[in-house]
Amino acid sequence: MQKLYLASHMTKRREFLRIGGLAASSLLFKWQDVSAMSQAKPMLRQANGEINWKKIRKEFPLDKNRIFLNNGTMGPSPHSVMKAVWDSMNRVNTMASYGGWEVAVEPLAHYFGADPDEIALTHNVTDGINVIAQGLPLNEGDELIISNQEHVGNALPWLTRARRDKLNVKVLDLSLPDERVLAELKRMIGPKTRVIALPHIPCTNGRVIPANEIGKIAEENNLFFFLDGAHGAGMIDLDFKTLRCDYYASCTHKWMLGPKGTGFLFIRKKGLKDITPIFTGAYSDTGWDLIHGNPRIFGWSDKASRHTNGTQSRSLYEGVAAAVAFHDAIGKQGVAGRIRELNDHLYHQLKELKGIQLITPENARAGICSFTFDQKNYIEFHHFCQKKEIIVRSVPENEVNAIRVSTHIYNSTEEIDTFVKTLQQYLYAGKGN
Ligand SMILES: Cc1ncc(COP(=O)(O)O)c(C=O)c1O
Repeated sequence: MQKLYLASHMTKRREFLRIGGLAASSLLFKWQDVSAMSQAKPMLRQANGEINWKKIRKEFPLDKNRIFLNNGTMGPSPHSVMKAVWDSMNRVNTMASYGGWEVAVEPLAHYFGADPDEIALTHNVTDGINVIAQGLPLNEGDELIISNQEHVGNALPWLTRARRDKLNVKVLDLSLPDERVLAELKRMIGPKTRVIALPHIPCTNGRVIPANEIGKIAEENNLFFFLDGAHGAGMIDLDFKTLRCDYYASCTHKWMLGPKGTGFLFIRKKGLKDITPIFTGAYSDTGWDLIHGNPRIFGWSDKASRHTNGTQSRSLYEGVAAAVAFHDAIGKQGVAGRIRELNDHLYHQLKELKGIQLITPENARAGICSFTFDQKNYIEFHHFCQKKEIIVRSVPENEVNAIRVSTHIYNSTEEIDTFVKTLQQYLYAGKGN
């Protein structure tokens, strides 16, 4: 009886939130219309199926006087994404309506080969990493393996957990070639090892790690395998059906070119039960009771969305749906191919230059290319570029001391040539000024 009441109360609550407590039928119809609009594919291919990349560039409001080669930090959105956000904000605020942010879940799931129940919406990569790092069942003395190429976003959550629960952290060298990484990893795994938590594509050297081979090792040793996918979604042909990991945290504000402050966490179905919800609230539970003498939570929702709690921005996630539609209009392989083509254009020129060392391996590359200087100073070069409105990223993390260049579909070979000339000028024409 009591359970029945609560279950029906929950359904009513969800229903209420879904439709904002307003006249259901008409409002719901409009929202579905809106979802269809934001997910509609923009016409980015020509009649013959080819893509005109110059036209694609025009879809972006990016300043023409600026050469933006730092998508690894932040991905500028095309007009269709900005419009979806704005139109949605307009509707939300004229109708004073509530809810509906799950509009992004299906497009993301569909695009990346997941079940919608395996996707939690987040605000960034760090959110997703924390859900896993704080939620896995780990005890004093357990070991986890991260790497020497971490971003603070994948370093601190694991170090925080290690500090709280007295776990041992082992550090894998991800600057080694693939075979040595795999050998080193196997050597590091011991009876106390529980987790491998690595960047799919480190923010430092930008290599694509041999994730499936690592996944196999994790499976063979019964370890949890988490990937920090900050640079996976939207850069490479990412597919959770074939990727051998349990958990994957990504964002939609970098390579997916979506609204800033949006992301998602993939939790493979079989891995959901292992994550204790730490941050909880609306949508985490299957019911709770404070008024019948036994205060308690009945249980956790059986969907990854139990980790998306409380009110979210429908408008930003409308933008995420639009970002997926934008990518989908070109196709995952089309996007990944163009990114790689531009990276090749850069890489092959950098390879010829004296005075720098490429640290991104030629055969494990996608949209990032990083290098260090033999003599010169990477921070000085960063400033040198900035003065010329060329935006790249310096990489002080873990004393890598490199320059990182990202190429995305809105870039052109001409922009890359200008960057290379600027580098030559800095390297060979005396002081950087
Ligand atoms: C590899 C990697 N992990 C995590 C993050 C953190 O991402 P976010 O700021 O979306 O939390 C970044 C950001 O650049 C990153 O490059």
